[in-house]
Amino acid sequence: MRGCPLVLFVAANLFSVCAADRKVQAEVRQLGCRVDRSEWRRYRDTYETALETRSSGARRALAIELLDRTSNVSDVLTCNVGVIAGYHLLARLMGPGAEFLQYRLLQLALVFIFTLRNANQIPEEQASAWETSERAIIPWIMHLRRLAEERALRARAARVPVSPQLRDKDLRIGVVSICAYPEDAPLALPRLTPQNREDYALRHDYAARVHMEPPVIGAHGLGIQHAKLATMLVYLESGEFDWVAWFDCDSLLMNMNKTLDSIVYQYAHSPPDDTADLARPCTAVDDVVGLWRDSWADASDAAVEIQRLDDYGAVRASAPQFGVAEGFGRPGKLEMNFPGEATPLSAEVRHSGDVQQLRWENGAVWEREDARNSSGCRPSCSTPEGCPPPEGVDLLITEEGWGLSSANWMIRRSAWSINFLHRALTVAHAEFQLFGDQDAIILLLMNEQALRAVTDGEGGDPLDGHAAIIPQHELNAYDHLNALTMDVDGFAEGDLLVTFPQCSHAEECNPLFELATSYSKAFASGNAGDSAGAWWQRSTAAPRWDGYDPSSGTSLRLFGPRPAVRAAWAGALGTG
Ligand SMILES: *[C@@H]1O[C@H](CO)[C@@H](O)[C@H](O)[C@H]1NC(C)=O
Ligand SMILES: *[C@@H]1O[C@H](CO)[C@@H](O)[C@H](O)[C@H]1NC(C)=O
Ligand SMILES: *[C@@H]1O[C@H](CO)[C@@H](O)[C@H](O)[C@H]1NC(C)=O
Repeated sequence: MRGCPLVLFVAANLFSVCAADRKVQAEVRQLGCRVDRSEWRRYRDTYETALETRSSGARRALAIELLDRTSNVSDVLTCNVGVIAGYHLLARLMGPGAEFLQYRLLQLALVFIFTLRNANQIPEEQASAWETSERAIIPWIMHLRRLAEERALRARAARVPVSPQLRDKDLRIGVVSICAYPEDAPLALPRLTPQNREDYALRHDYAARVHMEPPVIGAHGLGIQHAKLATMLVYLESGEFDWVAWFDCDSLLMNMNKTLDSIVYQYAHSPPDDTADLARPCTAVDDVVGLWRDSWADASDAAVEIQRLDDYGAVRASAPQFGVAEGFGRPGKLEMNFPGEATPLSAEVRHSGDVQQLRWENGAVWEREDARNSSGCRPSCSTPEGCPPPEGVDLLITEEGWGLSSANWMIRRSAWSINFLHRALTVAHAEFQLFGDQDAIILLLMNEQALRAVTDGEGGDPLDGHAAIIPQHELNAYDHLNALTMDVDGFAEGDLLVTFPQCSHAEECNPLFELATSYSKAFASGNAGDSAGAWWQRSTAAPRWDGYDPSSGTSLRLFGPRPAVRAAWAGALGTG
């Protein structure tokens, strides 16, 4: 900054230059932006024009300026609030129907709210000078995320449902975590997580790669945040795996039976064009509900009716012959408790020609009387040959309350992925150390894409097509206390894993980690009930596991259900 002489002797000319200079310096301070530099001055002017005219031309001009101004991310710091305001204004200027574009623009704004390092707050004076505010941006993002999640669920409903047990033996899958805690750390994670990963990998013939120290990879002083990207890059480049899953050390795998292949087969496709109403996936009971005839009984009381009690397999059978029996259906199977029988009886669903049969273990056979069969629902596929092949998607990632999450994700070995991780690492590590891995991922997946969508007048989701956002519960279900405060999915029985954001107090967190680990062991050995983790059977009710104790805060926090968690923590608020 140039100095102005304190005493002005001569030219009026010099006086006015100086006054102008002071004015600029005052503006620089007020805007928190180096508008004394020509490129930021131009940016500010373009911004003001867009703010005043709200014309589509001015909007396009602002998007072009913003793209230029963010091409060197480290330079954003010289006008940080102005950049936030730019994304925010563009989001406001997009018309209805452009929710996805608005959502991405606001996520970008948020990334640069983080770089202010000011507890997610924009300093008051700058906020008002730019007519922006985190109090407008953050709730808007949360609202849009809910819409995005609903859209994602509708898109999923249009896909062939994939069995959660599907394994493609041709896919080489690595499961990577860094559990780098100090030797004497009181947290139980460095003890529990490696075993959790090993057990899971062993079961499915995956390779667990758990690093107990942050790997020293190339660059010196690589922070743990960036070690994540660097480590994943090394595994992709090694050629050892076709897909690599990153799981934060504070996420514990809970459904040891659910495969990563099933997630790849379910989601690694370009979005379906048509999300028209399709038949829902067959649930456990579709095979068995309806009218049957007991081939053992007299014609007069041979009729049996099986009704659905809930979506998760509970059924009731009624017949003159035995009265009423309750039981449980799962695909291809039925188990009933008949009156007067000490133990349940089970039956298998078979087809004899065109006739569907229930063959009981005691030899009885029921034949379907009604025309119904499973064709009214969509059966799931369970083999690589039987399922649509995954294609076109390299990155599977979830979103939580405020946007993309880098806690748990999967990436395919491909030229795009390797280049993507390289660039993310460069942005986060070399160019802009204020960026965490998550911020770098967000920037690369949507900055240029969203700003170009504004200039091209496209309102769809501008997210890079190589990435697919998958429903949060698939890879990133939260413990229920965090789920409640962040308004996101809490863990439900059958979910692959549970994550504990920022749980760092050993006394409070270790019991949670221990409980999760016991649950996952019990679930694996089949004591956990029948929700095997299919999304179309997901129930947010409390788990049917005898280790679940609804009177224990630890149980509630891990498993929910949400209404109970809300009640418990609302009551306990302020009293610990
Ligand atoms: C990016 O911006 C920083 C900070 O303003 C500057 O030091 C650096 O030279 C710029 N890099 C390029 C390639 O322009
Ligand atoms: C199921 O029903 C549909 C029509 O209701 C029929 O076209 C189909 O052949 C039936 N499938 C079996 C296995 O019975
Ligand atoms: C998980 O798989 C094991 C071995 O295949 C099986 O015994 C167990 O019942 C399964 N658990 C669930 C909950 O499906």
